[in-house]
Amino acid sequence: MTETRIQRTSIRPAAPGTRGRLLTGDRPTGKLHLGHYVGSLENRVRLQEEYECFFLVADYHVLTTGAERTREIGHNIRDLVLDYLSIGIDPERSTIYVQSLVPEVAVLYLILSMLTTVPRLQRVPTLKEVMRDLRLETATLGLLSYPVLQAADILMVRADVVPVGKDQSSHLEVTRELARRFNELYGPVFPEPETITGRVGTLVGTDGQAKMSKSLDNAIYLSDDAATVEKKVSRMFTDPTRIHPTDPGHVEGNPVFIYHDAFNHDTAEVDELKARYRKGTVGDVEVKKRLARALNEFLAPIRERRAAWAATPGRLEEILVEGSRVARREAQQTVALCLQRMGMDYFEAARARGG
Ligand code: TRP
Repeated sequence: MTETRIQRTSIRPAAPGTRGRLLTGDRPTGKLHLGHYVGSLENRVRLQEEYECFFLVADYHVLTTGAERTREIGHNIRDLVLDYLSIGIDPERSTIYVQSLVPEVAVLYLILSMLTTVPRLQRVPTLKEVMRDLRLETATLGLLSYPVLQAADILMVRADVVPVGKDQSSHLEVTRELARRFNELYGPVFPEPETITGRVGTLVGTDGQAKMSKSLDNAIYLSDDAATVEKKVSRMFTDPTRIHPTDPGHVEGNPVFIYHDAFNHDTAEVDELKARYRKGTVGDVEVKKRLARALNEFLAPIRERRAAWAATPGRLEEILVEGSRVARREAQQTVALCLQRMGMDYFEAARARGG
């Protein structure tokens, strides 16, 4: 009896011909920028056809560093979902959902929290980074276990692949360890998900700092209008050693050329600009003008889709409610399967006996 149930509910490995699962997501803390795009967003759009996709709005994760500012979350959810839809995530094809509408994630989080240790989580590099950036003396229990909650998100739908920015690899490592540990202890339930990172590891900011980020105020957003993009590009950092347009300039490590490489589809133009820059026959102003044009060309269809979606706000909510219903059904199955494998499906067993 139990055997057949296990057979029926065990979903991995996927039957031949069925699509693998993809899950990824973001905390709703503000608008997405070009760094997010090359780090993860473009992979999501590309992989939508190949995988059965789940895109998660991780609102509970916001609490790990923002328990005092919960009132902003609702508005940020709307911005985030508009970003998703405007880059081409297709709600007809993929599931977009809100973490807090799937309460089963808290149950899986609890189960998984027993399968790792405090020192293991203290070694996760992002923890130290966040504590340093936010000047925290000590971490809350919730912040320490951030990667366990993330693992619960991923394992909840038994995802095979997780496209994320490079900074998230250490969290995926924890996810794989937890999957392995659970499977060893109780029997196979979870695939060990693979990380898929973007074509540009970490995109520099407009100020030349290592990372584009909202808190550093050096980001170009997917929702910026054309004039804003022009202004931000005109103020960008270039080659600090170059004083006159006739000085030979450096292309490597120059943020303006990094962006040209990442976003300008006209590779012949980029090659020509690089050659002239190295020789000192083109000024920063022209290189930047062409970059602003290329970025605005890249952003134009994104802006169009955003405007269309923004005009139907009711539809946005429907998408999230429906997506969350789909995700919740998955979550309920996964939790039931876990409890069954753990021998903790007492109630289920009684029901099966007709009790
Ligand atoms: N930690 C991710 C970030 O900050 C957001 C996130 C939460 C996530 N749960 C996830 C990403 C599950 C991938 C899979 O970007």
